[in-house]
Amino acid sequence: MHKAIVGLQWGDEGKGKLVDVLAQKAVYIVRFQGGNNAGHTVVVGDEIFKFHLLPSGILYAGKVCVIGNGVVINPTVFCDELEDLERRVGKDHAQLFISDKAHIIMPWHEALDKLTGKSIGTTGRGIGPAYEDKIGRRGIRVAELVNEQVFRQRVSEELPKRNWHLINEFGAQPIDEQELLDKYLFLAEKLKSHVAQTEYVLGQASPGYQIIFEGAQGTLLDNDFGTYPFVTSSNTTFGNSITGSGVRARDVEVIGVAKAYNTRVGNGPMPTELNDETGELLRKEGNEFGTTTGRPRRCGWLDLVILKYTTMINGVDSLAITKLDVLSCLDELLICTDYRIDNIVISKFPTTVQELERCIPIYKKLPGWKQDIKNAQIFQDLPANARNYIHMIESITDRSVDYISVGEKRDQLIGR
Ligand code: IMP
Repeated sequence: MHKAIVGLQWGDEGKGKLVDVLAQKAVYIVRFQGGNNAGHTVVVGDEIFKFHLLPSGILYAGKVCVIGNGVVINPTVFCDELEDLERRVGKDHAQLFISDKAHIIMPWHEALDKLTGKSIGTTGRGIGPAYEDKIGRRGIRVAELVNEQVFRQRVSEELPKRNWHLINEFGAQPIDEQELLDKYLFLAEKLKSHVAQTEYVLGQASPGYQIIFEGAQGTLLDNDFGTYPFVTSSNTTFGNSITGSGVRARDVEVIGVAKAYNTRVGNGPMPTELNDETGELLRKEGNEFGTTTGRPRRCGWLDLVILKYTTMINGVDSLAITKLDVLSCLDELLICTDYRIDNIVISKFPTTVQELERCIPIYKKLPGWKQDIKNAQIFQDLPANARNYIHMIESITDRSVDYISVGEKRDQLIGR
């Protein structure tokens, strides 16, 4: 079976590491949505690699990485990440293809996101405005970027309208057409050799364990199922791995990744948020600062109302729990099993943020283990209280936890 790796919380679940490890046995590693709002960290030995746009499998020579049609691509970030990687590891990395149908993030998208994204707390990378143009049928695609004549034509059609808005609606600086063309056409030359009809590249995969779909963000940032409007502008859930890449939907196993506690960057409600020293401790021990923007992440207790909901939405077959080692610092642990609104117990995840804001978590208290678990290699190496914590997640979500991450390095991963 192919494997789709999706986030079950608000992103930053540690998907990059799992993708990196599972990529060893796959052939193709595919990103299918989002853009450089994502931040995936892979640690190899003492080297730390942070990717925003390139798939996490890029470090493996002999593999094929695909940035699918569902992704929005900032060409500067693409070229910078690839050049930085090649400076560090040479050409010894995976083969890399970009879909010619993927949409391009243009300078006006970034400008607009910075001007309008504050209330949501976006990453300011132009993701939302680029997807708006895609759905509005006025976006510019990779296939147009790499055809100079077409690209010039498209920019001459779009830029005057965008500048009009920037000037008249926001009092902002207009974008210079010649500068834009010089920059983008230069980048187009650099990325040209990677452009392909990637659905045909992936169409060559045989059934079996060949493809890994690398989700970005998490289910609660999904434009349909997340905490709308405090969400990202793409579908982050399993379904989009198919539409965002053009691979047939059969033969895919879904692995849902969840952190052992909750975190969130940006605005919007989070019922189990801890605005106290325990939250502060989790942030410090877990180094909970956004990979993309450096913003401190909001931290809270693990929320199983969320995991029950997000395992269902994605059709999750099994779970990976990450950063279990971070909880070693606490004497006792709380897990949210249900919510209460006005003394009524709620076990479904509410649709509106207004309802979610009113939810009071109902907790189960578990004893901590207060012991370093970073060297645990098999499940039995974990202290009994840590195993209980995992069993509790399994019994309430009705899914088996097949992977447990106990540190940032590749080998700090327990497979069951
Ligand atoms: P956007 O994706 O930049 O439009 O931001 C929308 C929301 O998604 C904001 O709350 C961001 O903080 C959040 N977000 C976007 N990408 C990520 C990610 O990779 N991890 C965590 N949060 C993210």
